[in-house]
This record gives sequence, C-alpha cells and structure tokens, in this order.
Amino acid sequence: MEQGARNTLYKLLSTVSLLLLLGAIVLAPCVDATVSEGNIELQNSQKRRNNSWGAGTHAVSSEPGQLVRRRLAALVSPQPLVLPYHNGPILSGKNNITKLYIIFYGEFSKIQRYTVRKFLRSLAPPRHRARASIPTVAKWWEITKGFQDVYGESVAQLLIPSGEIQDQMYSRGMNLNQTDIEALVLNSLTTFDISARSLYIVVTASDVAVTGFCQEACGQHGYLYPSDTTGGQMLPYVWVGDASTQCPGLCCWPFANLNYTFMENTQDEPLRPPSGDVGADGMVINLATLIAGAATDPYQNAYYEGDAGAPVEAAEACRGIFGQGAYAGYPGDLRQDNATGVSFNVIGFHGAKFLLPWMWNPMTFACAGQA
Ligand SMILES: *[C@@H]1O[C@H](CO)[C@@H](O)[C@H](O)[C@H]1NC(C)=O
Ligand SMILES: *[C@@H]1O[C@H](CO)[C@@H](O)[C@H](O)[C@H]1NC(C)=O
Ligand SMILES: *[C@@H]1O[C@H](CO)[C@@H](O)[C@H](O)[C@H]1NC(C)=O
Ligand SMILES: *[C@@H]1O[C@H](CO)[C@@H](O)[C@H](O)[C@H]1NC(C)=O
Ligand SMILES: *[C@@H]1O[C@H](CO)[C@@H](O)[C@H](O)[C@H]1NC(C)=O
Repeated sequence: MEQGARNTLYKLLSTVSLLLLLGAIVLAPCVDATVSEGNIELQNSQKRRNNSWGAGTHAVSSEPGQLVRRRLAALVSPQPLVLPYHNGPILSGKNNITKLYIIFYGEFSKIQRYTVRKFLRSLAPPRHRARASIPTVAKWWEITKGFQDVYGESVAQLLIPSGEIQDQMYSRGMNLNQTDIEALVLNSLTTFDISARSLYIVVTASDVAVTGFCQEACGQHGYLYPSDTTGGQMLPYVWVGDASTQCPGLCCWPFANLNYTFMENTQDEPLRPPSGDVGADGMVINLATLIAGAATDPYQNAYYEGDAGAPVEAAEACRGIFGQGAYAGYPGDLRQDNATGVSFNVIGFHGAKFLLPWMWNPMTFACAGQA
C-alpha cells in the first residue's frame, strides 16, 4: 500500500496546479493513517463457527473484524481504475433484497433522521421509474449490478430499510471505540433479524467521539465476528458519524470548506447542503461510500484494489468526484436548485435531493454517477 500511496501522490503532484498540491498535503498523512485497525474481537466470539456462507469457494477472510475506513480528504484518485475481484462473497442479498437496519446513537434533529432515512429509502428503484434524464439514487446504486460474485450473482438491487433503533440516552457514553460500535450492532440483534444478508448501520451524533473519527476516518465498514449472538454468522455493518462539529472540513466536504490545515483557505463558499444540514448531507456522502464498499467487499476479500489491509473500494476509488470535470478540491459540475441554491446530483424518495459520490463501474472501468 505504501507504494500505492506514493503513486497517488506522484500522480497528484505531476498533474500539478496549486489545488492539487494542497490536496496532496492533506492526503499524505491520511493515507498513512488508514485502515488496518485489524482484528477486533468481541467477548463472546471466541468460538469460531461456520458462517452463513458455508464452506466451499466462498472462503471468508481469515481476518475477521477488519475494518475498511472511509479515508479522510476528498481528493480525486488516479485513473484508469481497476478493482480486481478476489473471489470472496458480496452482498447479493436474498432474492435480490438486502435489508437495512439502522441504529441512531445519540441525539439527532428530525431533519437529520429524515435525511438519512430518505436516503436509505431511495436506494431501491421506485415503483415508477424516473425519466431517463433524471439522475436518481436508485440508478446510482444500479452501478453495483456490475459487481458479481463467483456464482455470477450481482449485488442486491433492492435495499430495503427494515428496522430502526434510536439510542437517545447514549447507553455507552459519548466516547466510543470500535468495541462499542460493534456492541451496538450486537445488542440490536435482539430487535432486528439476524442475517449476513442484511446490513447493519450505526450512525453516531455530532457530540459522540469515536476512536479514529476525524483523525483517520469519517466512518467505516466491517463485520461482526461469528458468535452465538450472531447465529454463527459474520454480520456486515457500517458506521458513520456526524462530523459537522468535529471535522466538517474533512468529512462534510464539499458542504464545508476543505481543511488544508497549514494553508490559508482560498476556497469559495462551501456548497449548500440539500437538507439544509451540513452534518446530515455529509453523513449521506459517507454512508453512500461505505454502503457501496460493504456491498461489494463486505469481508475484505471481494472487490478492492491494493493491499487487503488498506483496500480501495467501489466508491472510495472515485473519492472526491461528484460530477463531470472534478479535480482535487473541485467536486465536479453539479445541479443546483435555483430557488434554494442547494447543490445535488441525484433525486431520491419523494423528490429529495442528494449529493452522492461517484462509483467505480465495472462495466466501463471508470467512475460514474449513474448506471
Ligand atoms: C464447518 O464446515 C465444515 C465443512 O462443511 C465441517 O467439516 C466442519 O466440521 C464445520 N465446523 C464447525 C465448527 O461446525
Ligand atoms: C434485482 O432487482 C433489480 C431491480 O428491480 C432488477 O433489475 C434485477 O433484474 C433483479 N435481479 C434479479 C436477479 O432478480
Ligand atoms: C474499548 O474501550 C473499552 C473500555 O471502555 C475497552 O475494554 C476495549 O478494549 C476498547 N476496545 C478497543 C478496540 O480499543
Ligand atoms: C483544520 O484541522 C486542524 C487539525 O485537525 C484543526 O486544528 C483546525 O481547527 C481545522 N481548521 C478548520 C478551519 O476546521
Ligand atoms: C436555473 O438557472 C439556470 C441559469 O441561471 C437556468 O439555465 C436554468 O434553466 C434554471 N433552472 C430552472 C429549473 O429554473
């Protein structure tokens, strides 16, 4: 990975422009600090059991609990892109369906909860397909159709929010680590269905500190180690935090100015978030990135490029790209609502507007915003 990181830097630097230079400076410490949180074990998980994928060609990574973190700094990655397939399982769901279970940890505003829920509800295709000219969240997700497993099955296309828990009492306090995040998922299994074909999503409020949050990552995906509580399965999960107060310049870009740390910020005004809440739309960007990563590389042995300990996954590969003509520090050409001035690139449930990162399309070997 070190080599990969250096290549990134070289490419950024050789393409030049001041912005790229600034970008590379932000990138450097972040790339070094990524991933490899390694084998996080839960108390009850000593007993290794066969997981739901069974034996056979779908051998699961021998490093459970490994995390894939959403890297900091929104920067354009080098082209051309290939994310090789490493023969592991993807989230192909059950009958094309992946159920989504969400845990809101801490206090959120109504708008924040609505925004996250609406985004998740937008992933499945609507009953009435939108006109081809209208970019939608569902057509963004449709890019994942091109990711297939060894049996030729695609990533599930019907992501269905199927349950929600609100932990407004901060049951594990306001300083969490990886064990706490996984415990939240584990505890939710008394409420939610237990299935490795589902995806469990933890969202932490702006006043919750999580180890590594804003230093190494804006969120992460991983999986629970098999235990009695998980029904012997490896359960994939995603966590993102509301970064609006802790590091908007790192995790809410382009709805906050990029934090160049040592440089005077010369950027224009940040973009206006569609929901009106910087934290909420920042979470949508990071959720989109990590859900795509979890679906196409749930156990860190499916679609990724580079080192398994620091993989570049589907949307991560297109980091910093939200529209045509993106370059480091510029998200690309976006749509703007003339009345409200908000920026977006897709429409979702009930006409809600969202800004989603582009995703690597295995059909075209390029980043794309729509299938
Ligand atoms: C796991 O599955 C394999 C092959 O089906 C079997 O030989 C093995 O005993 C199983 N292990 C456990 C712990 O159940
Ligand atoms: C999964 O759902 C999508 C969207 O409804 C559909 O286009 C696709 O054909 C389905 N795939 C399978 C295998 O049923
Ligand atoms: C998280 O914190 C708890 C104590 O609050 C500790 O027991 C546990 O080992 C920590 N986990 C990690 C992964 O650091
Ligand atoms: C930029 O990041 C540094 C280091 O994390 C922090 O101290 C500083 O307050 C941030 N600046 C802004 C404008 O967010
Ligand atoms: C928004 O404004 C632009 C330029 O001012 C214009 O071209 C476009 O038609 C407007 N869109 C709508 C929906 O009014």
